[in-house]
This record gives sequence, structure tokens and C-alpha cells, in this order.
Amino acid sequence: MMPTAHLVYFSPTGTTRKVSESIAQGLGAKKVIHYDLTPADTRFKTVLTDGVAVIGIPVYAGRVPELCLQRLQGITARHIPAVLVALYGNREFEDALVELRDLSVAKGFNIVAAGAFIGEHSFSTPTQPLAAGRPDAEDLTMAEQFGKRVAVKIQGGDYNTPSIDGNVPYRECSKLGGLTPETDSERCILCGKCAEVCPPGVITVSESVATNADGCIMCCACARACEAQARFFIHPRIEEKRAMLQKNSSIPKTPEIFL
Ligand SMILES: Cc1cc2nc3c(=O)[nH]c(=O)nc-3n(C[C@H](O)[C@H](O)[C@H](O)COP(=O)(O)O)c2cc1C
Repeated sequence: MMPTAHLVYFSPTGTTRKVSESIAQGLGAKKVIHYDLTPADTRFKTVLTDGVAVIGIPVYAGRVPELCLQRLQGITARHIPAVLVALYGNREFEDALVELRDLSVAKGFNIVAAGAFIGEHSFSTPTQPLAAGRPDAEDLTMAEQFGKRVAVKIQGGDYNTPSIDGNVPYRECSKLGGLTPETDSERCILCGKCAEVCPPGVITVSESVATNADGCIMCCACARACEAQARFFIHPRIEEKRAMLQKNSSIPKTPEIFL
């Protein structure tokens, strides 16, 4: 049995966290320690010296989100084994896993396994669903089994890094910045939940809700968390993206593992 699993993740809408937790369950660790890099006030400066790490990130434009890369800088390891997880919205994970591998190696982790799993796309809505309900029970079972296989690999003394799909140098990612979800002031009850869950902390709530579009990462955590259903991402460029994803990325993909 593994002594400790360090669960490091950035997960605005919770799917990366879910899959990472299932992997940790499969690892069979006695103790699971969470390092949630999502909240705006996250300030980790940690050196991991024992156990195994599970490092989970969502895929944005085929890469690791910039904010997530910055926050991962605060976690360093002294050569402990790590499992990498890329969570993507059923389009492609492209270079996200190799980018995460390179950063993790530079931070002192020894990569023993990696997996690309599918989660509901951040832009998914009830009327235009994109990978809705993922990760489902089958995905989570696969994640747990993956964790079990990683535990067997480590316990067998095999610390080799597998070959992982992706391009090095990474492909340039398309920039979709400057856009942000909007608030329907008729429905908004100014509860402040959107500001509370916003990873970059760019929402302020007083007599109305204001969002600094420059810092918005478009993760849609605010829209998901809004109990009054007053927060929507309805910009024409996003509508266009949703339609394209529905057209080209609707066939459910299967998780891929590298062990
Ligand atoms: C700005 C942005 C870009 C995204 N780019 C991709 C992508 O390139 N490929 C893909 O399959 N999903 C993409 N997604 C979807 C996320 O990878 C997916 O929703 C993920 O499950 C979110 O993780 P979380 O629930 O942990 O926040 C993107 C989402 C956002 C917000």
C-alpha cells in the first residue's frame, strides 16, 4: 500500500478533481493530501519529499492553462513518482500532457504514468451539451483501475517514464481571450458566489457584478456555480465554438493511458 498520495490539481468546474480522486483511490494510499490550485487565494510553496503525486490539469486550447502553469510553480518534489492527468472536453488533448510532463520533470517529479480523460466541456450548456455527464461511472472506474496499475508498477520498482502523446515543441495555441460570461441583472441576487469561485479572482460584486475580461480564463466556474442561473457565456464567438464542437467533437472518446 502507498503511504501518501499528494493530489495536486487545478479544476474550475470539478471534472479534473473527480478523475484525480478516482486515480488516487486506485493507488490505495493510506493518506490523501489535497493541493487545490483553483481558488484565487491559492498560495502553495511546498516541497514534496515522499509518497506519490497525482497532478491533474484541464486542457485549454490543447495546452496547460497559463494560470495553472503559474500555480504549479509553487509545488516542487524531491524525485517522488508522479501520475499526470489531462482532462479534456472531448475535442483533443494535443500537447497538454507533454507540456505538463516537462514542467513536472523540471519541478523534480519522476513521471511514471499519464492519462488523458474526458470531462464535460466548460462551454457545455443544457441546450448545447458537450460531453455532458463526463466523467461518467465508466470513466471513473477506468481512472481507479489506472491508479491500481500505477501502484503495481511502482511497487514492482519500475519508475520508468512512458512515452506520452503530444508534440515537442508544442504547437502554438489559439488565443480566445478578452471574452467573459455575462450576468443577467434581472435574475442576479448578488449572492457573490460567482466571485467566490472565480479562479483568477476577476469578479467583483457590489450593487452589480463586474468582471475584468482581461483576466478571465473563460473556465465558466461562475456560470456553473450560479444558483440563480443568472450567469451565461453567450458571446457570438463562444456560440460559434459550441456549434463547431457539437458538429466535430460529439462522438464520445475513451480515456487514454500511458504506463
Ligand atoms: C478556454 C478553454 C479552452 C478549452 N480547450 C479545450 C481543448 O482544446 N480541447 C478539449 O477537448 N477541451 C477543451 N476545453 C474543455 C476543458 O478541457 C474541459 O471542460 C475540462 O473538463 C475542464 O476541467 P475542470 O472541470 O476541471 O475545470 C477548454 C475549456 C476552456 C474553458
